[in-house]
Amino acid sequence: MLYVCTYYSGRGTGISKFSTAALEEPITPPVKVELTKLLINGQFVDAASGKTFPTLDPRTGQLIANVAEGDIEDVNRAVPAARKAFDEGPWPRMTAYQRSKILLRFADLVEKHTDEIAALEAWDNGKPYEQAASVEIPLFVRLFRYYAGWADKIHGLTLQADGPHHVQTLHEPIGVAGQIIPWNFPLLMYSWKVGPALACGNTVVLKTAEQTPLSALYVSKLFHEAGLPPGVLNIVSGYGPRVGAALASHMDVDKLAFTGSTNTGQIVLGLAAKSNLKPVTLELGGKSPFIVCEDANVDEAVDLAHDALFFNQGQCCCAGSRTFVHERVYDQFVEKAKARALKRVVGDPFRKGVEQGPQVDSKQFDKILKYIRSGVDGGATLETGGQRFGSNGYYIQPTVFSNVQDDMLIATDEIFGPVQTILKFKDINEVIRRANATHFGLAAGVFTQNLDTANTLTRALKAGTVWINCFDVFDAAIPLGGYKMSGHGREKGIYSLSNYLQVKAIWVDGGATLETGGQRFGSNGYYIQPTVFSNVQDDMLIATNEIFGPVQTILKFKDINEVIRRANATHFGLAAGVFTQNLDTANTLT
Ligand code: NAI
Ligand code: MG
Repeated sequence: MLYVCTYYSGRGTGISKFSTAALEEPITPPVKVELTKLLINGQFVDAASGKTFPTLDPRTGQLIANVAEGDIEDVNRAVPAARKAFDEGPWPRMTAYQRSKILLRFADLVEKHTDEIAALEAWDNGKPYEQAASVEIPLFVRLFRYYAGWADKIHGLTLQADGPHHVQTLHEPIGVAGQIIPWNFPLLMYSWKVGPALACGNTVVLKTAEQTPLSALYVSKLFHEAGLPPGVLNIVSGYGPRVGAALASHMDVDKLAFTGSTNTGQIVLGLAAKSNLKPVTLELGGKSPFIVCEDANVDEAVDLAHDALFFNQGQCCCAGSRTFVHERVYDQFVEKAKARALKRVVGDPFRKGVEQGPQVDSKQFDKILKYIRSGVDGGATLETGGQRFGSNGYYIQPTVFSNVQDDMLIATDEIFGPVQTILKFKDINEVIRRANATHFGLAAGVFTQNLDTANTLTRALKAGTVWINCFDVFDAAIPLGGYKMSGHGREKGIYSLSNYLQVKAIWVDGGATLETGGQRFGSNGYYIQPTVFSNVQDDMLIATNEIFGPVQTILKFKDINEVIRRANATHFGLAAGVFTQNLDTANTLT
């Protein structure tokens, strides 16, 4: 039996009622929690302090497991382990082909264990099990296979310099990468961070989110089964201001990658600056516009806009959280968006067919309800939802606001919950201006059949991703990242490799040796110093062209046949000189 939001009211009355009976008895997840310790140097170990913290089940707020609580001391154990694995261990030294085979074996193992991993993810985070199994884990596996393919295709260039030098660039791993991930897609964020870092030959210390520490520990055990050497990947579970801050400010972490809120992004960037200036990539929040143009097929637009906002309980950095709808179709759109929200299946994430589970924790739950209250108080029209769902755990009713104004908090802030805000617009230039009037710039969606409109919007929107007639499509090869305060840098695809590589330029002197002279003589007239070059090579300009000046070029040779060949290797043939006492030699040469 499905526990669907059931709508009892007539059209437009705004009254709705949801059936919540099912939530009283949560389904037992089909997995055991076995790994709860820190992973340091290939071993699962207790925190140095011996402390643990609870990770909770968002369906009930009850304990799932106590997990080792890392702290500064543990970061100070994990970073040297990663350092040693980088400086002395096999990982950066093995062939890239070997590395790629380990990444591929890992992807196979994760795929094989999809059921248990999806169960852990759904349990710890509250997302529907079916979505974890059919979206997040396949994307995870795909990403590791993608970067396994890159491992042996990372190389530098041979370059042409202005002077007589041979120049090449080496693309070297950067060293120890510190990585801090959030709780909304624990596995996906793990893959976006760990995949490119390890493919490039780095070592990693990863901090998972305190709400969702379990799945990363599980898959990291599989990584070692796949042949990952100890110390290459270390996991320190724990709280942000302790473990996260210690990583961001560690003097021996060479690079930091962070995904999470803009506020915390500013903190870690500051810590990196104040410590060793490690480069930082940031994937931060958003308030992405989803623009429904006047020519849109309203039914299709409603479905897409619904998914763009409500997917993953609305806890997506890319969520289409400002739904701009053209005035010509606005009323129709609002009516249908409300109907769609009312049909949304909210319930236990382990139940088949459930579209929406609970929010991740009480902090997010409270924050979302506070935003909903501010929407109501600010004068937006609450079309449906607006309340907690059931009386247990952190479920929230799918919520739709119409008549939203640009300056309301629900239109400016990242709510990160199942709250759709629908705004009205009149023309394209207006919606471009309003869509861009935010400090965020992560993504945007456009719904139109008009090619000119689509082209105008894709060029004008200040966002790292623009989806036209689609939304939330992800691919390992396609970069994701933000304009403005939505972040620094890009993750995934070829772009993420540069986050984890140093570029070293190597200059080899290919020039002749200037023995003397080389300058003008005096400051008057056209005098030049008598100039002598040694170590001249045949293909240098001073050896091939007629200089017609006081410049002697001295070339070295070994035997007669060689010097004959080289002396003749010119388009000129005016004269030659030979200096020898040996008659045979003289005859041969002449
Ligand atoms: P957060 O940004 O504080 O947490 C993300 C990660 O940063 C976690 O691993 C956390 O432990 C760590 N962290 C927290 N404080 C830190 C510090 N001082 N130094 C180093 N690391 C630190 O986000 P939070 O509190 O979980 O959620 C707050 C809001 O952030 C959400 O409501 C949502 O709006 C936004 N958010 C955006 C995400 C995205 O995908 N862009 C993901 C998660 C949250
Ligand atoms: Mg949890």
